[in-house]
Amino acid sequence: MTAQIIDGKAFAAGLRERVGTVAADFEAKAGRKAGLAVVLVGEDPASQVYVRNKGKQTLACGMESFEHKLPADTSEADLLAVVEKLNADPAVDGILVQLPLPSHMNEQKVIAAINPDKDVDGFHVVNVGRLSTGLPGFVPCTPLGCVMLLKDQLGSLSGLDAVVVGRSNIVGKPMAQLLIAESCTVTVAHSRTQDLPEVVRRADIVVAAVGRPEMVKGEWIKPGATVIDVGINRVPGAEEGKTRLVGDVDFASASEVAGAITPVPGGVGPMTIAVLLRNTIVAAHRNAG
Ligand code: GUN
Repeated sequence: MTAQIIDGKAFAAGLRERVGTVAADFEAKAGRKAGLAVVLVGEDPASQVYVRNKGKQTLACGMESFEHKLPADTSEADLLAVVEKLNADPAVDGILVQLPLPSHMNEQKVIAAINPDKDVDGFHVVNVGRLSTGLPGFVPCTPLGCVMLLKDQLGSLSGLDAVVVGRSNIVGKPMAQLLIAESCTVTVAHSRTQDLPEVVRRADIVVAAVGRPEMVKGEWIKPGATVIDVGINRVPGAEEGKTRLVGDVDFASASEVAGAITPVPGGVGPMTIAVLLRNTIVAAHRNAG
């Protein structure tokens, strides 16, 4: 069997287009554009690329983009002061502090300083609590994007066995919450899980978010399962000095067994920013209304 390829790039483009329509409607009604503020501390190259792309796509959707680039040696107090200013700024509907932060900062303390109603990343404990109790709030962008792709592919997820590999606050844990809300039977596997291949083999839905290149093998996959690969890993390429991107799933073997699978790149990756823009326009409507 050869799996159907889930085109996250095309889905994300469609989502951005819908966000653009809602953003134009917001501007007509509110008399201002919706605004997203992104704060980047330091010069991590991957983070710089993400932030640049976020800025471009925010503008392309007809929203305002505010970028705050701070040097790596910024004190935690100065960063907290920037967050406070953005909390109080009525032109800012969503605030995103790019992670990881430099090691001298306490990430949880910085996230806790963001107004939960502007926390479009869904990382604040208030939004984590809202998600786990089923209250409306902001949901982390990458797992929400994964659920959108899954529902588009499968329709109802009710009753399906889902295995999430990885237990991070950004992906694994919120992913499990979202799948529970969709009435899946959810297992969260991680580095200490015994007999991981056997656990994964039970799943109708596999979400791999461990950050280990090509760890999940085709022989672990139940034939016909839907595989969502959240990994973005840069590994040495075939040519000397070149690199290539691979996921957490061994695509070559998994695509022989799965019913459907997301590629890397072009699968989950483009969904994250598209969902961020969606969360921002939702924030604008909520905060203005
Ligand atoms: N770093 C990697 N992914 C993310 C994300 O979704 N949000 C933030 N704030 N930082 C990240």
